[in-house]
Amino acid sequence: MYAERILSGMRPTGRLHLGHYHGVLANWIKLQHEYPCLFFVADWHALTTAYDEPEGIAQNSWDMVVDWLAAGVDPSQATLFIQSRVPEHAELHLLMSMMTPLGWLERVPTYKDQQEKLTHKDLTTYGFLGYPLLMSADILIYRADKVPVGEDQVPHLEFTRELARRFNHMYGREPGFEEKAKESVRKLGSKRAKLYQELRTRFQEKGEQDALEQARALLDEAQNLSHGDLERLFGYLDGGGKVILVEPAALLTSNSKMPGLDGQKMSKSYGNAITLREDADSIRKKIRTMQTDPARVRRDDPGDPDKCPVWQFHQIYSSDDVRAWVQEGCRSARFGCLECKQPVIEGVLKEQEPMRERARLYEEDPQLVRNIIAEGCEKARKLAQETLRDVREAMGLNYA
Ligand code: TRP
Ligand code: SF4
Repeated sequence: MYAERILSGMRPTGRLHLGHYHGVLANWIKLQHEYPCLFFVADWHALTTAYDEPEGIAQNSWDMVVDWLAAGVDPSQATLFIQSRVPEHAELHLLMSMMTPLGWLERVPTYKDQQEKLTHKDLTTYGFLGYPLLMSADILIYRADKVPVGEDQVPHLEFTRELARRFNHMYGREPGFEEKAKESVRKLGSKRAKLYQELRTRFQEKGEQDALEQARALLDEAQNLSHGDLERLFGYLDGGGKVILVEPAALLTSNSKMPGLDGQKMSKSYGNAITLREDADSIRKKIRTMQTDPARVRRDDPGDPDKCPVWQFHQIYSSDDVRAWVQEGCRSARFGCLECKQPVIEGVLKEQEPMRERARLYEEDPQLVRNIIAEGCEKARKLAQETLRDVREAMGLNYA
């Protein structure tokens, strides 16, 4: 009933690394060809934990957007914007806060977990408690039906779905719904109206699922009806009232197979990362000095690729032939680790070449990035305003 739409956000952490690329970004780049996509910088979410040190947020946001563009997120395919420049998110957050049970927020597992983990921070703030609600507003305001996120965000998606359901249940029944629905049925034209009624009865009285499907298909084809009429008719069909907010599904982003230089998860804070558009010499040096199987102390000690992070890089960057060469050569000590690392160095450099190329354009002319974001914000706002209009009306705020 709604167009398929993908939305995802990232907190502005500054320069991104290969872990982000092989986890999140590669997925975004694939999705942008398959669906209408909206990707945004979640700068307000950054403030929920960095409220006492907001200095870096703007620079981190711009750096991150350049990395998206460099990696191949295409602004002519996807809409890119910054959360705080679409203030409609905040209004929806406020309106939903009226009907969000406090207990639901307190029970989101990340709330206590993060408070316990980030002990140096006082996170007993209203903004931090409301983190998942703000995220719900981000998603629901675009009526996004698919949200690519990592495992850690799944509870937030579940929370969002429950909230949408509660909202629709509470506000989806406009006064005089029944009469209005019948009015909308008439607008279908007598033949289709009759069919619609029959199918509706079959579904509601006998629970026939295919009658429901057929009726929905009938509505999908009814192009002469307004959005409002259609909405009502969809709701009238299954008895759920009007769907004002769409329940989103999580599209689970598979964990990046990209380890850090020491074999642990790649992370800026562990100091084991290679950033996107990193200087070529720095990349060479990092890979040349990266850890290998500790059993290979001397050049002629045989090794085991399974105990070596370089092997994990080969699995991302090398062909079958090269991988066979590594397996054989490492176990028989036919060559040293430096030689083994050479194809990885080449692979990483080659992957980054187009990224550096694209980034150069934006570094030379930062205005380009500003324009992309300005355009994205404008597009996003239009969509957001449509939803907000319905929400205001449903909550009794449609002052004439
Ligand atoms: N909370 C998400 C994270 O930390 C970022 C985020 C904010 C987000 N709003 C969102 C992701 C909406 C998807 C949809 O990764
Ligand atoms: Fe790792 Fe290659 Fe050295 Fe074997 S030869 S330990 S796979 S770097």
